[in-house]
Amino acid sequence: MTQSVLDIEIHPHLSDVLSHDLLTPSRLLWTSGQLAALTGYVARELAGPLREILHFDTDQRWWARLALTDGVELWLLSWLPGQQTKPHDHGGASGSFSVLQGELTEQYRYPGRPIRTRTHGAGVGIGFGAGRAHQMTGTGTEPAASVHAYSPPLVPTREYRSLADVPSEMPSLPVILSR
Ligand SMILES: [Fe+2]
Repeated sequence: MTQSVLDIEIHPHLSDVLSHDLLTPSRLLWTSGQLAALTGYVARELAGPLREILHFDTDQRWWARLALTDGVELWLLSWLPGQQTKPHDHGGASGSFSVLQGELTEQYRYPGRPIRTRTHGAGVGIGFGAGRAHQMTGTGTEPAASVHAYSPPLVPTREYRSLADVPSEMPSLPVILSR
């Protein structure tokens, strides 16, 4: 039996519906556009299976990893109204998110640029490059859920007390070790 040399992990509930081809295991660095296409597809086409995984926790935000390859990580997050992240960036990784249900409000900032606010509804996806710092909040009246992807994967986020504290230059991405 042939065994792939590329590492890939898929949430057991999605093993039959999330194809290896979609995760392109040979792609080690995804663009923001490729990430947005991935989260948009997963939120749109796999909404049924995602809702079977989805969970809400009144004490803290909830999340589950859907997939991990050498090039990308994919997550499902839930947001009760008012639940929010701290201001953070993704450590130099690119990212994307697509809202599965409900509404998210994002305050975001690029280094040296003003803080902006944008509300994201279901079906809307956005990709972003390494420079984006943001704070996301579940808004609206219904519980929200969203699919997120980051590349390269497993890069630690950096939290800020406020988006006003984001440095004027984004530190570079850590060296990616070949695996
Ligand atoms: Fe984020």
